[in-house]
Amino acid sequence: MHFLVLRRVFPPALLAMNHHGIASMGLAIPSRYLDVRDLADLRGVDPNKYTKGLGCHEMALCAEGEDVVTLAAAAARRAIERWGGPLSDLGLIAVGTETAKDMSRPLSAFVAEDLGLDGHVRSYEVKHACYGGTLALRQALEWRASGASGPKAALVIASDVALYAPKDPGEPTQGAGAVAMIVAEPRIAEVDLRSEAYAKPVFDFWRPVGESFPKVDGPLSLECYNLGAERTFAALAGDRPVADLVGEFEALCFHVPFPKMVKKAVMHLGAANGWDEPTTAGLFETKVMPTMEDNRRVGNAYTASLWISVARALRGLQAGQRIAAYSYGSGFGAELLTLTAGKDAAAAAWAADLEADLAARRRLSADDYQAWRGA
Ligand code: COA
Repeated sequence: MHFLVLRRVFPPALLAMNHHGIASMGLAIPSRYLDVRDLADLRGVDPNKYTKGLGCHEMALCAEGEDVVTLAAAAARRAIERWGGPLSDLGLIAVGTETAKDMSRPLSAFVAEDLGLDGHVRSYEVKHACYGGTLALRQALEWRASGASGPKAALVIASDVALYAPKDPGEPTQGAGAVAMIVAEPRIAEVDLRSEAYAKPVFDFWRPVGESFPKVDGPLSLECYNLGAERTFAALAGDRPVADLVGEFEALCFHVPFPKMVKKAVMHLGAANGWDEPTTAGLFETKVMPTMEDNRRVGNAYTASLWISVARALRGLQAGQRIAAYSYGSGFGAELLTLTAGKDAAAAAWAADLEADLAARRRLSADDYQAWRGA
């Protein structure tokens, strides 16, 4: 009834302008990888700890000449090519990352230089640990929805290289990758303007200025990740049971530091909402685990991890089918987004990116890895 009244007042073209989302997507990962079982051999650890205990399989590693910028630019080129518009139609480039190249110059400037993008465009970097890419996407959507964008589209990129000190407990969770999205008409997916955020200032994972590797309080980071999930799902459900909300989605995507952490959060969500364990485990197996297929082969790509999972979940969806996306960034900030598949989701053109990159990459031996890391 409401909808009919709206349609009578606003012409369809104007209504369409009020829908924003992902018009095109591109992904990129580095050209080398290490099997976590080889890392386990090197570190004298039972490989089951990494594969079963953490749920990891492989970690993407940059080769000489590859870094956070080349990954971001490669993903962006793929997204722009599929979108088909000229660079002059982009009014915003925002890069979410925690692999900053400079304390002042934004990563977006390095990427824009590589792409040849300049002129009437707002260009900036967004930092909030693994949440930065999601924040860049939210800002781009809200920029479009406010009308400030005019007819221009946004280029949003999440790009990171996750490396820990050799022998650090986080070493098996390393990875790297980038996801680029053109935010404009929702050909692939509409991103609902309503989302739920939750934040609490803590030190669970941080990298002091001038240091190469992060410091982590693993148990605190898990506790905060779980709390963020519990609170954002409850807030989005409102007066309804969280189970009803979850039932609306074909898939639930999570930020993936490593797959076991996601499983623990889903089990926590179940316990917080009084679901029995088999029901929660079933939900994890059917709606969450399949979204992490690519994450298990890429490793943690920080800002890009959630969007690698979303890219997987959107593959082959029919227009109108819905997914949820839980973003988490240490520090901490969390946000739950919902997306509705558009007409281009079924064909999933972006799926070719990871298939090509995964097929072409070179497996490092444990010796290669040790020589590269120097330990
Ligand atoms: N076979 C099977 N499982 C094994 C095993 C074996 N031989 N040995 C250990 N495990 C399991 C453990 O039981 C544990 O599983 P559980 O948590 O379900 O009990 C898991 O493997 C990890 O073992 P743990 O001893 O906790 O690992 P660790 O102390 O070496 O820590 C990390 C590793 C990755 C968990 C830790 O470094 C961490 O939390 N890192 C940071 C998290 C992060 O990335 N946060 C970023 C922001 S979200």
